[in-house]
Amino acid sequence: MTFDETALREYFSDAPDDIALDDVDLTRIPRHVSFIMDGNGRWAQSRGLDRSKGHIAGVDSLRETVTTSVRLGLDALSCYAFSTENWKRPQREVNLLMHLFATTLMKEMPLFHQENVRLRFLGDLEALPKETREVFFRGLDETSDHTGMTFALAVNYGSRSEIVRAARNLAANAAMGNLSPDEIDEELFSANLYTAGIPDPDLLIRTSGEMRLSNYLLWQLAYTEFYVTDLYWPDFSRWEFLRAVRSYQSRDRRFGGVKAK
Ligand code: IPE
Ligand code: IPE
Ligand code: MG
Repeated sequence: MTFDETALREYFSDAPDDIALDDVDLTRIPRHVSFIMDGNGRWAQSRGLDRSKGHIAGVDSLRETVTTSVRLGLDALSCYAFSTENWKRPQREVNLLMHLFATTLMKEMPLFHQENVRLRFLGDLEALPKETREVFFRGLDETSDHTGMTFALAVNYGSRSEIVRAARNLAANAAMGNLSPDEIDEELFSANLYTAGIPDPDLLIRTSGEMRLSNYLLWQLAYTEFYVTDLYWPDFSRWEFLRAVRSYQSRDRRFGGVKAK
């Protein structure tokens, strides 16, 4: 994906002391960056606020992250917003999140149009409240002919259930005689995941210091570089994003081979 260098420099002007755009190699920007947006609740609690305020503040970080990703010229951005396990939270918090997803998406449609961003969703949307589902489907429809960055939002997403679903699809096809088990390879399996057609993430960023995957993209992250920051999600900004990219560029990705010369 190409980027507009003037817009990029302008976007990253006013840099803090320890990081600047010149610290990253613009020819080696990751294609796909994925986020586990964590720590909204702790951000709010540390300020004596209700957890819901953390989710609301997290929307601003997400908007900035989408813009940063477009400015950097990523092919794809993916963000974990709600896991299959998050239904265990108090009903009030779940309701707030579902409503927030709907209202935010509706409000941000002009940004997606302006930046030519194509929306995708990862997860089972059937289980979402009608309001949320309808807004999501409208978002998919309205951005389907956009040709810029793909933005995939994972909602009611669980990696194990995604893998089981893919296996079930393939088995059903085989049982119907449309597919021979010998034809099932990694490529076909990937094509049956929610992320079909999106390259695997090059970089995974998790906020709030937790070093676990929490059932996120277990298949797709096989060779992804990880970056964990202690910042809570509402404090995540374009500058921490740059620090993560700088760290990514310092890694030697061997993919099981030997060190690159
Ligand atoms: C991430 O923040 C947002 C969602 C999982 C929806 P959390 O709500 O998990 O915040 P913490 O981890 O409790 O601080
Ligand atoms: C992971 O965060 C899910 C999302 C960010 C949507 P959690 O807060 O649910 O993960 P755990 O419970 O700390 O593993
Ligand atoms: Mg959390």
